[in-house]
Amino acid sequence: MDLKFDDPRTILLATNVGLVTSDGLAGPNIMSVAWSYYVSCAPGMMAVCINPKHATYKNILKTKEFGLNICAADQAVLASVSGMASGAKVDKIKVLQELGFEFYTGSQIKPLMIKGASMNAECKVVKEIEIGDHTMFVGEVVDLKADTSKNSLVYANGKYWELGKQIEKPSEEKMNEIKALLEKFSKK
Ligand SMILES: Cc1cc2nc3c(=O)[nH]c(=O)nc-3n(C[C@H](O)[C@H](O)[C@H](O)COP(=O)(O)O)c2cc1C
Repeated sequence: MDLKFDDPRTILLATNVGLVTSDGLAGPNIMSVAWSYYVSCAPGMMAVCINPKHATYKNILKTKEFGLNICAADQAVLASVSGMASGAKVDKIKVLQELGFEFYTGSQIKPLMIKGASMNAECKVVKEIEIGDHTMFVGEVVDLKADTSKNSLVYANGKYWELGKQIEKPSEEKMNEIKALLEKFSKK
């Protein structure tokens, strides 16, 4: 079966907004990618799923490197601009600089990185996997920075959110009940 981007059964999935920076055939570019996450601890790897029709796809295919900048809660404008036009036709980096956003040069890769993001990962591609209508680029992290004072922007239900109410983990009493059940049903 097909799952459209705005299918009412998938919009409840919550993600970050990854701002993928690249520099290749289309020049310096930035795009929004909801499908981005880290997928290995040792070595640290991050993956992004990109439709081959995007300028970013062509850039990464050629240069085998990308920046994964996680959009901070106060950067929703960045997420919108990066997702609403193609770098094949518009210089989105220049548009964002005009809007007051700042970039810096990464230490290990050519693509620009974004100032004020909650996390900045510089990645070198180690694997490309075709998944249906997208390609997953898996990148080994070669430099990583984070600003833990910031909340990341959350994307759910087609809208942007900031993390709010913290949900408590189960109480000690509930935990003891769960532990007893895990023991009772353990496959010894
Ligand atoms: C919040 C948001 C999330 C998105 N997530 C993805 C994604 O995970 N993969 C993808 O291929 N496109 C995704 N897009 C669409 C691209 O960002 C959009 O088509 C962009 O203009 C492509 O830019 P480029 O041609 O310069 O690479 C998303 C757009 C938005 C606004």
